[in-house]
Amino acid sequence: MQKTQAQFPDLKGKRILITGASSGIGAGMALALARAGSRLVLHYNRNEIGIEKTYQTVTELGAEAQLLQCDFKNLTTIPAFFDQAWQVFEGLDGLVNNAGIITKSLSLKDKTGQQFNNTIAVNLQAPYLLSTHFADACKTAQQEGVIVNNSSVHGQATCEWFAAYAASKAGLDAMMKVHAVEWGQYGIRVNSLAPGVVPVERTFDVLYEPAMEKKWVGAMPAGRYGSVEDMGATTAFLLSDVSEWMTGSVLTMDGGLIARGHYPYRD
Ligand SMILES: NC(=O)c1ccc[n+]([C@@H]2O[C@H](COP(=O)([O-])OP(=O)(O)OC[C@H]3O[C@@H](n4cnc5c(N)ncnc54)[C@H](OP(=O)(O)O)[C@@H]3O)[C@@H](O)[C@H]2O)c1
Repeated sequence: MQKTQAQFPDLKGKRILITGASSGIGAGMALALARAGSRLVLHYNRNEIGIEKTYQTVTELGAEAQLLQCDFKNLTTIPAFFDQAWQVFEGLDGLVNNAGIITKSLSLKDKTGQQFNNTIAVNLQAPYLLSTHFADACKTAQQEGVIVNNSSVHGQATCEWFAAYAASKAGLDAMMKVHAVEWGQYGIRVNSLAPGVVPVERTFDVLYEPAMEKKWVGAMPAGRYGSVEDMGATTAFLLSDVSEWMTGSVLTMDGGLIARGHYPYRD
């Protein structure tokens, strides 16, 4: 059970692009950032019903918002997509690279590497292009900026099936550090949020199946799954001046899941 209603730092008037805001964690981030006073450019790919729902929720909270569609598998469309996003509010103060595909496949079942390549395109190459265009635009406009990358605990500790996904997220964390180093001089901060298990529409059925829930939650010292509200509140923190001295960091939010090593048993 979640104990408290999170308090949101002040992001009044901040112009923020969130990718993948049509469901799950991205929709939760949009809600948190709207509560904190942001103006939002909400990206989606295929889920029109989901993005309309996000739009309705954030605008009911009084946030200004605009929707933009783009399929990040088609990397050549990203520069034009970014330019459109930048123009909505005549600039952006923050970029949240949240959109991602959660590829679960044994490597021997993906011998052509097609799934691997798609995963790297959406989860790593797209954030690279978006971050680079964002940093360039901030530098040209002589303004500060903040980037939050939604990576995963799979970037740090993983298991079978996740060669593509884990590689994309470990790559995202590594790239984030380089970007923090390269762009600190321009007043641009870059950090990763690394979530553990957060039930979303896509995974509700599996994760709330009683035996599965017992197994997963039993492995978490915090005693519960993460929520999209947890992720939204942390994203608001990372985008705000409360974290102004923080750059180049991976903030793991997993209820303690990966803190426990698998040591051999001994009395
Ligand atoms: N939920 C978790 O437990 C968990 C844990 C660690 C990390 N994460 C990360 O959190 C992020 C969001 O995942 P989620 O769990 O909230 O899943 P989700 O509800 O499936 O959201 C995925 C989002 O990514 C967008 N997307 C997928 N393919 C895309 C493409 N080709 N081009 C552009 N956008 C695309 C989707 O857009 P459309 O639906 O509109 O097509 C959707 O908005 C991902 O980066 C994921 O790796 C999630």
